[in-house]
Amino acid sequence: MSTVLVIGSGLGGLFAAVRAADAGHRVTLVTKGALDESNTGHAQGGIAASLFPDDSPNAHLLDTLRAGAGLSDAAAARVLCDEGPARVRDLIRFGAHFDRDESGLARGLEAAHVRPRVVHAGGDATGAEIARAMLDALSRRPIVVREQTMLVELLTEPTPNAADRVVGAELQAADGRREKLYADAVVLATGGAGQLFRHTTNPAIATGDGVAAAWRAGARLRDLEFVQFHPTALAVPGTPLVSEAVRGEGAVLRNRAGERFMLGRHPLAELAPRDIVAREIAVEMAAQGGQPVLLDATALAPTAAENAALLAGRFPTITAACTDNGLDWATLPVPVTPAAHYWMGGIATDLWGRTSLPGLFAVGEAACTGAHGANRLASNSLLEAAVFADRAVRALTADVAASADLPVSGYERRHATTDTRSDGVSPGASAERLRPDENREHTALRATVQTLLWDTAGLERDGDMLAAAADALAALPRPYTGPGASRRAIEDANLLDLARLLVAAASARTASVGAHFRRDAPLSAPSETPASREEALAC
Ligand code: SIN
Repeated sequence: MSTVLVIGSGLGGLFAAVRAADAGHRVTLVTKGALDESNTGHAQGGIAASLFPDDSPNAHLLDTLRAGAGLSDAAAARVLCDEGPARVRDLIRFGAHFDRDESGLARGLEAAHVRPRVVHAGGDATGAEIARAMLDALSRRPIVVREQTMLVELLTEPTPNAADRVVGAELQAADGRREKLYADAVVLATGGAGQLFRHTTNPAIATGDGVAAAWRAGARLRDLEFVQFHPTALAVPGTPLVSEAVRGEGAVLRNRAGERFMLGRHPLAELAPRDIVAREIAVEMAAQGGQPVLLDATALAPTAAENAALLAGRFPTITAACTDNGLDWATLPVPVTPAAHYWMGGIATDLWGRTSLPGLFAVGEAACTGAHGANRLASNSLLEAAVFADRAVRALTADVAASADLPVSGYERRHATTDTRSDGVSPGASAERLRPDENREHTALRATVQTLLWDTAGLERDGDMLAAAADALAALPRPYTGPGASRRAIEDANLLDLARLLVAAASARTASVGAHFRRDAPLSAPSETPASREEALAC
């Protein structure tokens, strides 16, 4: 029986694990936190797919390509939009309950979609409901689950061809114990790296561990310069997301003078593509001394009572976040600010989740299929996770079957006592001796990287700032990650690796496009015009 190791427990990982088990593989899923801890669980707005009679995969595709600012891989975007409806139906079969209205599935409108096609659950708790259903599906299959188990490095073996084969992963348990887990195929579903930035909508686990480990193993990465900044995070500690669906319901953005500044800046005003809205907010914030702008959701219904009921019913998660921070968004505009939200770049894959290393697959935000181009269309991320996890399992099943002489079949577990590493660090050094120094040395590292990237590689970049950032990052010591290193130190090392790569990628792309905006090469035109909107509506 072939073996599959899935790393990560967001939608990509859960979908891949369930599909792989159903395809007859022996599956182990490891995740560095609790099983229900993932970016997926925080997704609010929903999942976009052409599920309605007035919509089509072509119309969805046009919106996806337009948001991608001309840099999407059209074949990947085509797969996403064509196969999306079937995967949403799969989620429903797995038990996800999407919100319904009198006409069937309820649907919302989000930025840069020409028509409403975003299905949602629990109002604004779509990711939590999808994760619940997939965890339930997982529990009903013979999948070995290992929580609190962190990826340290991928294990590779040379092949007669150019690229090494990935044969498993070195993992670290919560007690610091290390082991090597071998598998016929490894699926990385470790998510993005919002924690690279000072302000992010992502949870603390989003440290890009899989992308960094894949890079160290020699996998090809792509599009690292494309980071999506969500326009509206609540400007309070933790910057919780305020879904774009709120603007889809009619909420508007105002500056401190009360002006609706997006009017006249883009034909779609508050529903322009995310990169454009986020940058316009940054312009307004700069003009008002850094103060957040205001999201006005006070007039979505005719009366104040109806408005409060609408917001509480449709957006319970955001309503709770407002209430927790002493804000009553039904009656007063609330402060919002852009925050790092989604990494379009990641581990380069083909249309089947295959990376450049045999035996290694990547899905979800850790992967870069190219479907999102330079800027992801709202609510296409959960969709991409499901569509390409499904494909990756089909591909790995075919690859494993075709591979008559895999170097290792089945799991072997070897514990770290016999480990030798190429970084010169002697194995077996005790955690007790290393941790105090490590913690002292690295307490400030993450905050330093986050501030540096926010200031130099955030919503706006330029060549000089990026060059200075590259120098500053090069001067930072990489934390020790050998045996005895803490989870925090491994994450920090991953963040530092990725920060350097991201800054290098942003320096190399000298033109502004999509989410990559360079002050020294401004965009000449908005990425969407009314004409292209008409074109999409006609599909
Ligand atoms: C949102 O609800 O605004 C976020 C959805 C997404 O990131 O696609």
